[in-house]
Amino acid sequence: MYTAVLDIHSLIRWLVILFGLLAIVRAFRGWFGRKEWRPQDDRVGLWFTVSLDTQTLFGMLLYLFFSPITTSTFQNFGTAMADSERRFWAVEHITMMVLALVFAHIGRALSKKGNVPARRHRQAAFFYLIAILVIFFGVPWPFSRQARPLLPFL
Ligand code: HEM
Repeated sequence: MYTAVLDIHSLIRWLVILFGLLAIVRAFRGWFGRKEWRPQDDRVGLWFTVSLDTQTLFGMLLYLFFSPITTSTFQNFGTAMADSERRFWAVEHITMMVLALVFAHIGRALSKKGNVPARRHRQAAFFYLIAILVIFFGVPWPFSRQARPLLPFL
């Protein structure tokens, strides 16, 4: 079960990044191109937040139940914090991803309101960009300190 959930979590990362980048590109083009706010703008924001919500769900399953790293860390949290790998999974990864989730939802909520298109695009651009930057820093890339593969089967 652990491996299945971890593999799904690893794969959904690419959907989050794809939809995040799409939403950011649309928001910046809408803002600088002075475009109307269209239903597609709302839809890409929805895809981004829904993929991120789903990723959070799988992440929480790993964090609370399946990951041997986090579940064993909870048994002696204080001592485990001296270990950089355990600290990354038990504190840093989750903190960054929850922050990204909050920024993405703020961006979507603000961009849904109001009737000034430029303002809606700007708010989406700003918050989605922050969210994706935080995600990039929180992901364990193969070149990160906590290196993990780009795809589960690599
Ligand atoms: C609150 C949200 C999240 C929580 C609680 C969470 C938690 C976790 C946990 C516990 C692990 C597994 C550690 C292990 O046992 O090996 C993990 C791995 C991972 N997480 Fe998250 N995560 C969250 C969000 C995200 C997001 C938003 C992304 C990227 C978009 C992401 C990308 C990854 C990747 C790439 C791995 C490694 C997968 C592998 O080893 O193949 N996580 N996460």
